Amino acid sequence: MNKQLRGPVIAGNWKMNLSPAETEALIKETKPLVAGAKCGVVFCVPFVDLQAALEAAAGSNLKIGAQNCHWEARGAFTGEVSAAMLKEIGVEYVIVGHSERRTLFGDTNETVACRARAALDAGLTVILCVGESLEQRERDITMEVVRVQTKIALAGVSKAELARVIIAYEPVWAIGTGLTATAAQANEVNRGIRGLLAELYGQAAADSVVIQYGGSMNAANAAELVAQPDVDGGLIGGASLKAADFAAIVKAASEG
Ligand code: 13P
Repeated sequence: MNKQLRGPVIAGNWKMNLSPAETEALIKETKPLVAGAKCGVVFCVPFVDLQAALEAAAGSNLKIGAQNCHWEARGAFTGEVSAAMLKEIGVEYVIVGHSERRTLFGDTNETVACRARAALDAGLTVILCVGESLEQRERDITMEVVRVQTKIALAGVSKAELARVIIAYEPVWAIGTGLTATAAQANEVNRGIRGLLAELYGQAAADSVVIQYGGSMNAANAAELVAQPDVDGGLIGGASLKAADFAAIVKAASEG
């Protein structure tokens, strides 16, 4: 399938950055710069910024996502936010399984699967993060690790629901380090993920899934990454906090 038919998606993951006032300012600055984008454009923002983000982005092509959700709809889960709560205020996307949630906050393949399940049930689009550590890459088990992460997260996800799943391949060693996977490394893993999806759902379904790359993607390296046949855009951390840099990445994906 022509990757332009899948349509790349550039998603900014702000992580724990920016206040509601700063959210409004950055979205107002970014909106005109990405208005004509020929790719999906998403900002995944901290929970307290969601309302400001939704208001600032209203009527534009910029979609808003959260960075996590809990798997239960309600209950005694202090500090958590449910997928249905996100949906109710107008959020469309949610990141699940980011490596920072896995390494710093105890997420496992199983809890990531529960979060993805809840997000899909609530009608959200899931951005599922997978990726190997440096040690795993050095042991040459990257593809095994990524296959296990993907397979467990998608257990119970139907072919119809797969249309609301984006996979973000984010090698842990490339996140926030300035080290980027080479375009060939990114494409190789993304192609492997698509191969797994073909085993699970058939080739046509696999060909329609957006598979991003993430990890120190920036205005300078985006064009080469998104030009790869199996790299359908990116999940952008640091560079998504600067309107001009983010817009340059969106432009690269629009043209790639
Ligand atoms: P950086 O772009 O800052 O490396 O972060 C990538 C990331 O973790 C996006 O989710």
